[in-house]
Amino acid sequence: MNNKKLFGQKSDVISRRQFLQSAGVGSLGIIAGGFLPLLNPSAKASDQNKLAGTGFVPDLDIELKATAGEVPILPGKPTNMWQYRAKVHKGDSNRLIEFPRSYLGPIIKANKGEKIRVRFKNQIPDESIVHWHGLHVPAIMDGHPRYVIPQGQSYLYEFEVKNRAGTYWYHPHPHGRTGPQVYQGLAGLFLVSDKEEQSLGLPDDEYDVPLVLQDRTFNSDNQLVYASGHRMDQMTGFLGEWIMVNGMPDFTLPVSTCAYRLRLLNGSNSRIYKLAWKDGRPLTIIGTDGGLLEKPVYRQYAFLSPAERLEIWADFSDSPVGFETSIISLPFDTGGMGGSQMGRGMMMGGRMGQSQSLPNGAGFSIFKINVVKHVKKNQTLPQKLSEIRPLKQDEAVNFFRPRQFYLTMRHMQWSINGRVFQMEDVADDEIVQLGSKEIWEFNNTGGGMMNMMNMPHPIHLHGKQFRVIERSGVMHNGYVDEGWKDTVLLMPGERIRILVDFNDYPGMFLYHCHNLEHEDMGMMRNYFVKI
Ligand code: C2O
Ligand code: CU
Repeated sequence: MNNKKLFGQKSDVISRRQFLQSAGVGSLGIIAGGFLPLLNPSAKASDQNKLAGTGFVPDLDIELKATAGEVPILPGKPTNMWQYRAKVHKGDSNRLIEFPRSYLGPIIKANKGEKIRVRFKNQIPDESIVHWHGLHVPAIMDGHPRYVIPQGQSYLYEFEVKNRAGTYWYHPHPHGRTGPQVYQGLAGLFLVSDKEEQSLGLPDDEYDVPLVLQDRTFNSDNQLVYASGHRMDQMTGFLGEWIMVNGMPDFTLPVSTCAYRLRLLNGSNSRIYKLAWKDGRPLTIIGTDGGLLEKPVYRQYAFLSPAERLEIWADFSDSPVGFETSIISLPFDTGGMGGSQMGRGMMMGGRMGQSQSLPNGAGFSIFKINVVKHVKKNQTLPQKLSEIRPLKQDEAVNFFRPRQFYLTMRHMQWSINGRVFQMEDVADDEIVQLGSKEIWEFNNTGGGMMNMMNMPHPIHLHGKQFRVIERSGVMHNGYVDEGWKDTVLLMPGERIRILVDFNDYPGMFLYHCHNLEHEDMGMMRNYFVKI
């Protein structure tokens, strides 16, 4: 291949930019102690034409574009969307799987241990950057908003897949613009497989079904309507009127009489689903954010908050052809504002925009399942799914004094420990030591009059999968805190403790609320892993 042609002139600009930004990491590093070692060797290359010299030989090399396009979603006029589109430069072309008739980006499939190169090209009229949600990658590959590129430019990602098999995803992460960009259509799945998973013989191919749940509101012209921009709409987060599955309204999944692996991602901006089977059988949950659980767990219902994933074993072998059921979202109380209660009395003039029509916590059907075909397969659900090492919280360096994070509102602004996002800002209590294990405690307990204004917050850490140690103040059932997580839901009144192992990758990462409107208004902070 001709390197010049591939990397052209634009990437020279970008590489300089990536270099300058690495320098930015460095200057922060000085404050936090340690400069040069923070730089990732492959990222500090100031000239991407010399990439070959870094020794990075990708197993999969793809081009990923964010572009504007039209997608037929509702009958009549197509909808203007932004979409991720990709093609394989090098490697197996079956590693990219398109959702048919969907605005969603292609599913990227990789195996643990593989090296991935993604040449991201931003072609939307807005600055953007891609975050690999749940993947454990170096800071400069993580899509921090400080790396945003304008329309027409490119960003080069190179990383090794270190995660266990699981359902991960990618989405934009420019500061203040993540909500609208995801809403416009920018999101896709990143599925990782590994030997442990492959040895189980779980349902695969057509029996392994990704299901991305989102909500959207359309105007009479079939165009997307986003939040009004009113502060109150931002405080609650965007809630759409239509429930979309894989980019389609009124979704039905036709199935055969056998077992399925359903991988659900909540790709919504702020809607929380309380998943259940309409026919009342319990959910058989086999995986969460960071892959398969140790063993299946059963729940009558399970919460799926923005960015969380759940994998469900669904067996239709006893159902006759013609059987119909649904995955539904049960009604629930969100505690404070933005829910079925809507913080009544606290809303100025009751101006809640479109969130009124299908509030968070309303019950509805998410998608239908129709048994349409008879097949004979003999599958049993493995009682052991994966190896998960026992949780040893006393290994944490701060076992006796966990780091505390309070999720509070100040001056009509969601914040973490009273702070809002500043691009380069890291407070003393947000610096962690590389190689240490820590307990982080998140408190959504509000206080005083602010109790009225409490809301659910799904908290996400970049860079790491973690374990949930304990959850207290719980008023709901239906959490799946088992296994590896990167996003946890805190309902009002709840407190949660997680154990994070900062075993590698120094530098600056984010933690934030994954209610995208909360994130965009600054309910996000940097944490810094120092050497
Ligand atoms: Cu899925 Cu910082 O995001
Ligand atoms: Cu939040």
